[in-house]
Amino acid sequence: MEYVLAITGASGIAYGVDILKKLPSKKVLILSSGALEVAKYELKGGVNVKILKSYADEYYDEGDFGAPFASGSHKYDALIIAPASMNTIGKIAAGISDNLVTRIASISLKERRKLIIVFREMPLSTIHLRNLLTLSEAGAYILPASPGFYHGPSKMDDLFSFVTSRVLDIIGVDNRLIKRWGD
Ligand SMILES: Cc1cc2nc3c(=O)[nH]c(=O)nc-3n(C[C@H](O)[C@H](O)[C@H](O)COP(=O)(O)O)c2cc1C
Repeated sequence: MEYVLAITGASGIAYGVDILKKLPSKKVLILSSGALEVAKYELKGGVNVKILKSYADEYYDEGDFGAPFASGSHKYDALIIAPASMNTIGKIAAGISDNLVTRIASISLKERRKLIIVFREMPLSTIHLRNLLTLSEAGAYILPASPGFYHGPSKMDDLFSFVTSRVLDIIGVDNRLIKRWGD
C-alpha cells in the first residue's frame, strides 16, 4: 500500500505530523510552501522540518512535477491532505493543478482514488462551504479538524489521535488509537 500525505498551509500541522507517524508504509510526504511558512510558528517540541521529513519513506517538494505521483499511471492508495488550507481546497475545487498537491488531488478525483481532506478554518465563508461541497460531490472525504471529546481526551495527543483514527478508518487501517463509542 502507498499513501501520500500532503501538509498545506493551514494551522494544525500537528494533525499532519500525527497522521504521518501512524500511517503504515509506504508513506510519501509533500509540504506546500504555505506549510513551510506555518511550520515556522507551529513545529515545536523538538520536531523540525528535517525531522518531519524523516518520518516519511519519501519526500517531494510541491514543485516537483517529475514525481511519480504527478501522473495518473502511477498507482497509490490514497491522498490525505492534512491540514488542508482553504487556498488548496479552492484550487482543487476549481480544477487547478498548479503544484504537486493540487495535481495529485486532481488525479485522485479523476481516477476515483481516495482523497481525504482534513480542513481547518473558522468561520467558513459561503465560498469555503461551496468548495467543500464540490469536493464532496466529486468523491472526496471531508473531515473537519475538529476532534470529539467523548473518548475522554486528557492531553493534546488524544485530540490528534481522534482525527488520525478517522483517517486510518477511511483508508482501512485497523487501529485502536481511541476508545470507540460502545467499546
Ligand atoms: C500562521 C499561519 C496560519 C494560517 N492558518 C490558516 C488556516 O488555519 N486555514 C487556512 O485556510 N489558511 C491558513 N493560513 C493561510 C495559508 O497559509 C495561505 O492561504 C497559503 O497561501 C496557503 O498555501 P498552500 O495552500 O499552498 O499551502 C495561515 C497562514 C499562516 C502564516
